[in-house]
Amino acid sequence: MIARDLLKSALSGQQTPRPPIWLMRQAGRYMSDYRNLRKKNSFMELCHEPDLATEITLQPIKAFGMDAAIFFCDILVTAEALGCKLDIVEKVGPVISNPIRCQQDLARLTPLDEAIDNLNYTHRALTQIRSALPADKGLLGFVGAPLTVGSYMIEGGSSSGVHTVFRLIQEDPELFAQIMERLTDLTIEYIGLQRSTGVDGIQIFESWASLLPRKIYLKHAFPHLQRLVKSCSNKEQPLILFALADSELWQDLQTLPVQVLSIGSQHDLRSFRKAFPDKALQGNLDSRYLLGDRNIMLHAAKEILEDMRDQGGYIFNLGHGITPKTPESNVSALVDLVLQWR
Ligand code: CP3
Repeated sequence: MIARDLLKSALSGQQTPRPPIWLMRQAGRYMSDYRNLRKKNSFMELCHEPDLATEITLQPIKAFGMDAAIFFCDILVTAEALGCKLDIVEKVGPVISNPIRCQQDLARLTPLDEAIDNLNYTHRALTQIRSALPADKGLLGFVGAPLTVGSYMIEGGSSSGVHTVFRLIQEDPELFAQIMERLTDLTIEYIGLQRSTGVDGIQIFESWASLLPRKIYLKHAFPHLQRLVKSCSNKEQPLILFALADSELWQDLQTLPVQVLSIGSQHDLRSFRKAFPDKALQGNLDSRYLLGDRNIMLHAAKEILEDMRDQGGYIFNLGHGITPKTPESNVSALVDLVLQWR
């Protein structure tokens, strides 16, 4: 079975001869090829220029041979398309210099039609990537969930405490809802745009799901994710939901009509399979294993592969993204293990 069919079968919940593999953040700073391009360009230039985005998307496929490529871009491009001035600053992370915190800020956001036009470069990049990628490899698109992207828009960057988001929800829930709605509208269009290029699936990143208490998340963030997923549910190009969430919150998240749940390494894949038999699963090797001894890493990966043997609808991945200090040789050994698994 060719790699792309393995991916498509597993995404739609079917048993495959072996699990397909791709890795979150498989293109990025741990690769010397990426760092070389990054020296000459800002991160946003790499995203905006389709030739560069294509080259970077293909780098890990050429080097390690994963079954699927993931579009090289960032979840925050929707915020940028809405008028947020986004920069990725060395050793700091994303910075938005004009955060959205009051009605005047909201009024300045770019209208939907214009915002979707601002994302046209992603259509060009994905089209180019699909034709440059070997025909037997899968291709995934992705978007950020409204809360995860909205938190950066409101905080102005990474913030472990999300104090400003928390306060805004308490003090002006209507404004918070309007920001979420604008983002949700654009993200629905953006998923359609990515799908029109022929991607095999779309991963939704809800990385910040657990930064709010469950009750607040369910009241103020979840309904927007629910609207997004309901308007984009499509069995031909399945949705994968990645979230960093505890088991209690997953009970709520799994009610969404997504085909695949991508779970963090604190969870047990077999328990999820029992609890949610209708969902395909993706994950969940702890990315810290890739920083250490190769044999220990391979042993941990084999345990997961054994656990999920004959479990159907399973895609091998990490619990979260590859970290920048990961040796390329460990990624290579991990991919080889899964490609040869029977
Ligand atoms: O998985 C992939 O290979 C596809 C590309 C991708 C990137 N970011 C590239 C990137 C994807 C899917 C993302 C998702 C993303 N971006 C998330 C959700 C996933 C997660 O990790 O929880 C979030 C929260 C972001 C926002 C973001 N973008 C952060 C926090 C950072 C800084 C991280 C850091 O290590 O500095 C970015 C920048 C970014 N996005 C880089 C890459 C390769 C590093 C940029 C650089 O070269 O400096």
